[in-house]
Amino acid sequence: MSIDRKRRRQSCGPQGAFDPDFDDTQWTDAWLRIPLALPPVTIHRSGYRIRRQLLERVEIFGQAYRLSAPFDCRLLFDPAGRLWMSNTPQEHMMMYNNAARSWGHVLVGGLGLGLYPQYALAGVAGQATGFTIIECSPIVRELVEPVLRAVLDVPLEVRTAGIEEYLAGSTGERFDTIFLDTWDTLDAANLPAINRLRELARPYVSPGGRLLLWGYRWMVRLFEDACRRLLAVDPLERPAWLEAWIEQTASARLLGPVAERFSGRTLDAESIDDALLWCRSHIIAVRGN
Ligand SMILES: C[S@@+](CC[C@H](N)C(=O)[O-])C[C@H]1O[C@@H](n2cnc3c(N)ncnc32)[C@H](O)[C@@H]1O
Repeated sequence: MSIDRKRRRQSCGPQGAFDPDFDDTQWTDAWLRIPLALPPVTIHRSGYRIRRQLLERVEIFGQAYRLSAPFDCRLLFDPAGRLWMSNTPQEHMMMYNNAARSWGHVLVGGLGLGLYPQYALAGVAGQATGFTIIECSPIVRELVEPVLRAVLDVPLEVRTAGIEEYLAGSTGERFDTIFLDTWDTLDAANLPAINRLRELARPYVSPGGRLLLWGYRWMVRLFEDACRRLLAVDPLERPAWLEAWIEQTASARLLGPVAERFSGRTLDAESIDDALLWCRSHIIAVRGN
């Protein structure tokens, strides 16, 4: 269930601040026309290092592409040499899509390589007029904040903290847009924890404001695909089939409530759609600890 951003202010519609149907994986090449400042190649005293790489082949949402021109990429490695972050085309596209829906005073969970705020800026792709960024890593702050300060001409406050602690603090602050992007993977197993974070963030959204969660629709789709597979199995064989899947992929545990709900039922093409609607509502509502 896993896979390794100018717009006018829009009304939020019946879903309120958060729209689970907003899909930030929608294909766009608009981001290609917006040059961004990237952190410089460096070796930090902690051992973290930023390297530059020109990419000729990339994967975007699971599909391999050969690029017509080399793509300038920064790769952030931890002291053990493990790749932590990179500004791949997929990352740019998702940041652009979120940024294009952003406006006003924006709360950001996770500084990363600082792509999103540059796209979200009023007159670029979004309508942001200022940022409060919560970033848990002082090293990421040291590497990326100066780059952002040099290019953003709007108020920018960066705090070193965990977004969960910040949101649990009941500061009374309100934001026109909240964009959270602190999880590493697009994995449906993240959804219960992300839903919990979403509910912590909700009181911080101004009336008419917007709450954006990186990769949310994609992860819900992965869950729906997994449910479709489960429900296609003969009802008598489902428990053993699910057990075997859980042994391979711990996140398959998320399917337990689905198996229980549709226990003993064979679903035809029509009822599978209704069942999948239930699965979708379930995964959007379920909250982790
Ligand atoms: C993938 S990056 C975000 C990319 C960013 N949206 C951009 O535009 O480049 C995730 C960031 O979240 C930070 N982070 C991870 N967990 C966090 C937490 N609980 N609270 C605050 N920041 C967190 C990481 O240190 C990292 O800088």
